[in-house]
Amino acid sequence: MSKKIYLRTFGCQMNVRDSEFIAGLFLEKGYRLCSSPKEADVILFNTCAVREHAQTRAINNVAQLMSKYNSRVYGIVGCAAQALKDELFRKLPKLDIVCGTGEIARLPALVKRAANEKILALNDIDRPLPELKLAYREDGKSAYVSIMRGCNNFCSYCIVPYVRGKERSRKVDDISDEVKDLVRQGIRNITLLGQNVNSYRGRGKPYNFIELLEEINKIDGLKKINFMTSHPKDANTELFKAMRDLDKLVKHLHLPLQSGSDRILKLMNRAYTTKTYSRLIAKAREIVPGLRVTSDIIVGFPTEKETNFKATLNLVKAIRFDMAYIFKYSPRPGTKACEMKDDVPQELKKRRHRILLELQRKISKRKKGVEERR
Ligand code: 5AD
Ligand code: SF4
Repeated sequence: MSKKIYLRTFGCQMNVRDSEFIAGLFLEKGYRLCSSPKEADVILFNTCAVREHAQTRAINNVAQLMSKYNSRVYGIVGCAAQALKDELFRKLPKLDIVCGTGEIARLPALVKRAANEKILALNDIDRPLPELKLAYREDGKSAYVSIMRGCNNFCSYCIVPYVRGKERSRKVDDISDEVKDLVRQGIRNITLLGQNVNSYRGRGKPYNFIELLEEINKIDGLKKINFMTSHPKDANTELFKAMRDLDKLVKHLHLPLQSGSDRILKLMNRAYTTKTYSRLIAKAREIVPGLRVTSDIIVGFPTEKETNFKATLNLVKAIRFDMAYIFKYSPRPGTKACEMKDDVPQELKKRRHRILLELQRKISKRKKGVEERR
């Protein structure tokens, strides 16, 4: 009888894709995936460390399962494993494996070894993942395709460069082969993933992101290409022209703003101002008619005053995003911002979060109405 694995994922699209990669590895080794921890021989949690809340939730969930189901191999994998390291063994004495972001390709071997010892695998966060023969996907219609890993930007609040390592791009041919394979499996829509897709630099031939898009756009049978995330310092007119001209590219730009205050943007190390950001959006809308623009915004960054928050509200009103994710700032150990005092009280963060969310909801609703009436 083949062994069964239960795999749970927290966090972003990258993690969803990493979990599919892990699932693919175990399927190659003859394991079966199961949807309930009750039936599982191996239980793995692929975790997120971007905000403290997500990290704590994953750990609490593992603890709950451990108290319910004994004699299974338990592993914490990914960003929170990389961030918390062996501290996780102290928090969770029944834990068998802590496996960081660069070591996930070794998971089947680590699970085998875990019968005899506790395993801490955290080296090489900069290692590229191997190419798998089996392009396993959870969904039969649309798929995430990772084009690069890691990030070099070091936004001051963000833990990603510390837990996912330096930016490294996959080869165009590998990406293209994976997409062709997905099309053969019946998938018609893909989303190209990277922390900052605009700085993609293909290895082998020195392709940039636009050239990669042109290659992928040629693939017969593929209908739609999405991509995320773009960084405002690297998104440019060339990208917008590609969005206008390449027939399979979806007219959607996810362009995180983070704050509407220039002072806070500087403290965040975002390398653009509200003026350059607004001009970029205006340019994108001018070149790509009907463009959908979405964003990420953080409230309550250290030293954020009421005037800075009002500046964010005003900019959101002026830009009118189709949708935006709003986050409360959460200090992440090891980041630059974590050296600053987290001086916006939790209640005030909650209030600003609620106000901005309400504003954005109203805008989204009106914009949807506009789209539907067109
Ligand atoms: N606190 C709150 N939000 C954060 N993000 C990243 N780090 C933090 C943090 N420490 C948000 C940013 C990013 C999104 C993926 O998560 O808005 O764009
Ligand atoms: Fe984090 Fe900034 Fe990199 Fe995005 S671009 S992953 S926010 S450091």
